[in-house]
Amino acid sequence: MEQPRVVLGVGGGIAAYKACELLRRFTESGHAVRVVPTESALRFVGAATWAALSGAPVATEVWEDVQEVPHVRIGQHADLVVIAPATADVLARAAAGRADDLLTNVLLTARCPVVFAPAMHTEMWEHPATRENVATLRRRGSLVIEPAVGRLTGVDTGKGRLPEPEAIFEVCRRVLRRGAEAFTTDLAGRHVVISAGGTREPLDPVRFLGNRSSGKQGYALARTAVARGARVTLVAANAELPDPAGADVIRSGTALELREAVLKAAADADAVIMAAAVADFRPAARAESKIKKREGLDPEPVALVRNPDILAELSAARTSGRVVVGFAAETDDVLANGRAKLASKGCDLLVVNEVGEGRAFGTEENEAVIIEAGGGETPVPYGPKEALADHIWDAVARRWSAGARED
Ligand code: CTP
Repeated sequence: MEQPRVVLGVGGGIAAYKACELLRRFTESGHAVRVVPTESALRFVGAATWAALSGAPVATEVWEDVQEVPHVRIGQHADLVVIAPATADVLARAAAGRADDLLTNVLLTARCPVVFAPAMHTEMWEHPATRENVATLRRRGSLVIEPAVGRLTGVDTGKGRLPEPEAIFEVCRRVLRRGAEAFTTDLAGRHVVISAGGTREPLDPVRFLGNRSSGKQGYALARTAVARGARVTLVAANAELPDPAGADVIRSGTALELREAVLKAAADADAVIMAAAVADFRPAARAESKIKKREGLDPEPVALVRNPDILAELSAARTSGRVVVGFAAETDDVLANGRAKLASKGCDLLVVNEVGEGRAFGTEENEAVIIEAGGGETPVPYGPKEALADHIWDAVARRWSAGARED
């Protein structure tokens, strides 16, 4: 297999130092990387660092090694161009189609997938000029991932932070895996909400009723949706997984907290996927202090009350064009139970998988059947949770286009 050729464009922002880590991840996993920094990026990290880490020459202008026509060749030969950090200035020049340095020339000549990982202050990210530039780049098929929320330069915090290099690397790997032909930002312009993980219902300050959901399937859904261009809100319940780059992550603990977060995020959502394992019941009372064992006495029974069914609520309240997806974890009569559950919950799609010892929960792979309201079943063979996630998004996208045809 030939080494995938990656161009790492680096804009002039403080987060340029994080691109060194991203570069290492590429080189250590067998990618050939050509770093193309902007002139101002070199004020943050010098050319020697990029050259030593990539093992390739580094230039910012088109006037070096002119006999090799680098302004055309580098872009033409790339399998992926990723720009991290993409500053407001790089986004503006890319959107305007400028060709005033080597990086912008590369962008004009590249025919491979292009990923922008913006980083800047919140005000710059929210400025209408930047919003329009991002929209232009997305419309043209580039993948512009959302910045993370967190500490910015100085004392500020807010949206605008470069996602962690590992998370950007994951996005790039996913894009490379799909290949240039299959690369699509078909979910661009859509807001999708995904719940993931398992709720915990406290009995007292140290104990809870919980379940074995790891959150891996929900996180895979979030990562694949980002890689296909969607705006993603991930409502995570007790999942100990790294934040996916480009997703807004909201944390919740109990079913009631999850419900509140999902309903709020869903207000303008085009799709909601309930991948979280939500506890059906919670302890009727939550002890203020730790419940002690009482010598010589039997334990008190734990009284439970019903939690609201979030999926049923979302399905009942959905607006036209919104697709609501549920999961069914079943141990017996998997398909029959799945069909009954699709009907009783009233959702558009139900992803049915068989659970039990060593199956689905916490594993990297999964097998499922996607059942559709109104008929239609898509069996998805055993494979990575991301492959199942892509099948689910395909089914969601089909429902959107079917809905649009009916309107
Ligand atoms: N779900 C929900 N709110 C709940 C319980 C479940 O939104 N209070 C959602 C889950 O996120 C999942 C789907 O409903 O998408 C199915 O959950 P599952 O636990 O398989 O089914 P239950 O409704 O709990 O039914 P049963 O326990 O009878 O299998």
